Amino acid sequence: MDLFAFLEQKKNIINTALEEILEKTSGPNWTLTSTMHYAVFPGGKRIRPVLAMAAAEAVGGDAAVAIKAGCAVELVHCSSLVHDDLPSMDDDDLRRGKPTVHKIVSEGVAILVGDALMVLPLEIITETNELPAEVILSLVKELAKAIGRHGIIGGQTADLESEGQEITEETLRYIHQHKTADLIVAAVRMGAISARGSQQQLASLTTYGNSLGLLFQVIDDILDVTGDTSKLGKTVGSDEGLKKATFPAVVGLERSREIAETLAEEARSSLASFDEKADPLRKIVELVRDRNS
Ligand code: IPE
Ligand code: IPE
Ligand code: MG
Ligand code: MG
Ligand code: MG
Repeated sequence: MDLFAFLEQKKNIINTALEEILEKTSGPNWTLTSTMHYAVFPGGKRIRPVLAMAAAEAVGGDAAVAIKAGCAVELVHCSSLVHDDLPSMDDDDLRRGKPTVHKIVSEGVAILVGDALMVLPLEIITETNELPAEVILSLVKELAKAIGRHGIIGGQTADLESEGQEITEETLRYIHQHKTADLIVAAVRMGAISARGSQQQLASLTTYGNSLGLLFQVIDDILDVTGDTSKLGKTVGSDEGLKKATFPAVVGLERSREIAETLAEEARSSLASFDEKADPLRKIVELVRDRNS
């Protein structure tokens, strides 16, 4: 299986679907809709929607049934980035190689762009008549849980509160679990739910998503120390400047790499009961571990 071709194909499908969703309007709403488009395009790796589609295939379904779920998760992700970069949060100027949203519109509008991108997924998921009502209900539940007080928002609050503090590895895992891993869990679960995966398949994919999600953020932390701004499209050293709670800061770089290896192993072994249709999910573990962007 050619992972690169797989990623490109899925990314193209998602970008086409997102373009349709994010049509720019004219008139008084132009600033909002065109800035929402700016926040989503040309985009980053699109790893979350790729995971949703790969999970649908892993449970024996068709990747196409997971397009809505994938777009929903990617929009939540883009929303979280707009808010994460705000001056009152991480105060970053560069995202995906471009000025951050609050650099091109006022901070107030940037907050609203983030809000609009967070709520749009609910419209997308509930408007579809391709999926039965009980599947739509499950997708909404998954998404709300991943975003809310015990999800991204809970994690981001703990992240802000931990700036400059001495924190334990336990608190650090809480932050990373919720600010990052929860949405990655939602991506694979929502893909599998769209394809009517079994409870047993969903349980294994939850373990996969948790390990992969934590791995993703540990690597993100490492790259903020060792990475290259031009490859990452965001400014390295941002975490150190803000005295952020990161794995390198709390346990050191070497131990962070060991933890990453353990998480990669856990993600791989969680897929033991799946056949070759889960190979893309298996290869994505290596991709996330070895990424430099
Ligand atoms: C960055 O996510 C934010 C984190 C949760 C670490 P990505 O590295 O997936 O960002 P894009 O979408 O590729 O730009
Ligand atoms: C981001 O964590 C988590 C969310 C956006 C929810 P970071 O603050 O480490 O992400 P980057 O490094 O700015 O992409
Ligand atoms: Mg942050
Ligand atoms: Mg940040
Ligand atoms: Mg980071």
